[in-house]
Amino acid sequence: MIEDRILDRAVTALFADITFPQEPAGLYDPLRYMIAIGGKRLRPKLCLLTYSLFKDTLDASVLEPAAGLEVFHTFTLIHDDIMDRSPMRRGCDTVWKKWNEDTAILSGDVMCIDSYRRIAQAPPEVLGRVLALFTKTAAEVCEGQQMDMDFESVPQVPMADYMQMIGLKTGVLIACAAQMGALIGGASDAVAKRLYEYGYRLGLAFQVADDYLDTYGDAAVFGKPIGGDIVNNKKSWLLTRALEKLACKDALLKAMELPVETADEQAAKIAAVRAIYDAASVGEDARAEVRRLSDEALAAIDGLDAAIGLTGTTAFDALRTFADRLVSRAK
Ligand code: IPE
Ligand code: IPE
Ligand code: MG
Ligand code: MG
Ligand code: MG
Repeated sequence: MIEDRILDRAVTALFADITFPQEPAGLYDPLRYMIAIGGKRLRPKLCLLTYSLFKDTLDASVLEPAAGLEVFHTFTLIHDDIMDRSPMRRGCDTVWKKWNEDTAILSGDVMCIDSYRRIAQAPPEVLGRVLALFTKTAAEVCEGQQMDMDFESVPQVPMADYMQMIGLKTGVLIACAAQMGALIGGASDAVAKRLYEYGYRLGLAFQVADDYLDTYGDAAVFGKPIGGDIVNNKKSWLLTRALEKLACKDALLKAMELPVETADEQAAKIAAVRAIYDAASVGEDARAEVRRLSDEALAAIDGLDAAIGLTGTTAFDALRTFADRLVSRAK
């Protein structure tokens, strides 16, 4: 295994040194900008972490694919911010806001392509499996994003449909990061699959936490505007759960119809919906759900050390620490 602080340093160095072509600047500047403004970089970290369960040193055959995962994720954010009409990301202007939508579309496209170039640097002996995993994942993220958009225009979705949607838009990429690191490290298919399950469940917990923070977070820390999900009638975990509670259902369906043309109208709608959430305690429910899903993630890797031929619980503990940090996050 590789020490956690060494992995953290490697992730920092990876993005401090990352390069994209200089010209045309109108195409590539937004890529540099999105990487420079940061982000938690949890997907490359997870990829390096699962790799480190099998290997003791890092090299380009895992560092480049790890970077590719973050580049792909960042591409999805550029397009997501157009789709969600979101003006702020990572505490800064979004690409469509700072430049324009055309730029956000094309810079996003080239960023997606760049991610493939990096992932394709996985070692030849696992390249076929890595590319198959990544390609399937990338298509699934689009499927989840389409479901997310489709759900904006229906009043209510069953919780099972919500879970399927977040599994696709968010779960599979975190799962892919966990499995990819393991595959490059030389894990057996059975162990790589368990790490995928861990990542998938953790991804669900992560998205429920994101939905919680979208209403109850602090914008200065979260780096995104608070209440965007409410304004857009997103079928967030909070809304989906609240609509299951009959006591607040009618008031909520009415509040969802409130106008959102002006900033004042948006603020009024956010306050109205939030008051309903408060009364129905769905914030507390969400926090409990995040813990439940995170426990499920850990259950998927129970006994992992023995399965990979390690004694003790070093691998399990490293992945538990990673999960704990993610689910107790404020940003
Ligand atoms: C945001 O992802 C999109 C979701 C899946 C909720 P992150 O919360 O990982 O965003 P950054 O990369 O840290 O900005
Ligand atoms: C984002 O979901 C999922 C992807 C970008 C694939 P959200 O729309 O909730 O993410 P944020 O809140 O804008 O980061
Ligand atoms: Mg979205
Ligand atoms: Mg969004
Ligand atoms: Mg969100």
